[in-house]
Amino acid sequence: MKLSHVIESQQFTVPLIMELCDRAKDMERIVARGGTLDYQNKIMAALFYQPSNRTRLSFESAMHRLGGRVVSTDQANMFSSEVGGERLEDTIRTISEYADVIVLRSSQKGGAARAAEVSRIPVINAGDGSGGQHPTQGLLDLYTIIRERGTLDGLTIAMIGELSEGRTARSLAYLLSKFDRVKMYFVSPPELQMKPDILEYLDRKNVWYSVESQLEDVVSKVDVVYLTQIRPGRLAGQEHLQNYVVDSSIVKNMRSDAMVLHPLPRTLELDKTVDEDPRAFYFQQARNGIFVRMALLTMLLD
Ligand code: CP
Repeated sequence: MKLSHVIESQQFTVPLIMELCDRAKDMERIVARGGTLDYQNKIMAALFYQPSNRTRLSFESAMHRLGGRVVSTDQANMFSSEVGGERLEDTIRTISEYADVIVLRSSQKGGAARAAEVSRIPVINAGDGSGGQHPTQGLLDLYTIIRERGTLDGLTIAMIGELSEGRTARSLAYLLSKFDRVKMYFVSPPELQMKPDILEYLDRKNVWYSVESQLEDVVSKVDVVYLTQIRPGRLAGQEHLQNYVVDSSIVKNMRSDAMVLHPLPRTLELDKTVDEDPRAFYFQQARNGIFVRMALLTMLLD
């Protein structure tokens, strides 16, 4: 199946997600053999207007492991021509003459869609603004779950943290809604709950969900605990933050075969006492980003 751009989770069908997962599995074997030179004539441009460790470096690593080359600006908010007043559209038109694919982290919601409208080459949304999406993170989250469980059908998941603006949880909710009998618990302080656009979408698709505020009530019921960061200053009373922290005392109430995932970076919400628990999959999840992003790049470049 041909992909033109990767902008939002809604564009992915189940067959496309399964093709991506099959390719990602192939990429694991390719990386174990030392990579490939198949894409040595291709160039990836990475344009990041916001900080990133995992997304930028895993995309760059993915392109190198495919034999391709990378041009990048990792502090585009300071060092791109935007500083001098250039519009995003002009930046993208220019870069699309220099590379074969663009990976864009935009500080504006909708930035990737604007870029795709004017680009001659594929654009990948590596996170767009606050309350936007981060579809490649959602896809690697799915891959991490499928790799362990074999299927997403029948999955029960608790998404915890700042869900209102959290682009990773938003992208993951859209993706999971495509699978059968998925149940989603959204656990968050009321002011940071999942927004109506997602809840109305799930209603239209007849997807089961429950809006919750108590973490302890939910963790024993789910296959996956998916934590996200609550950014400093987002809660009026910081003492409430403690109600959304997962530590070893919370994890002990989880099922023995459950998984703890987190897109990272983390702050207080995921205690390091969980790191050695066999249910902690977040560093494997970060590693899977390489394989999924290699797979996506090949689907866009082939
Ligand atoms: N998960 C994620 O997007 O991490 P970075 O901000 O480090 O890219």
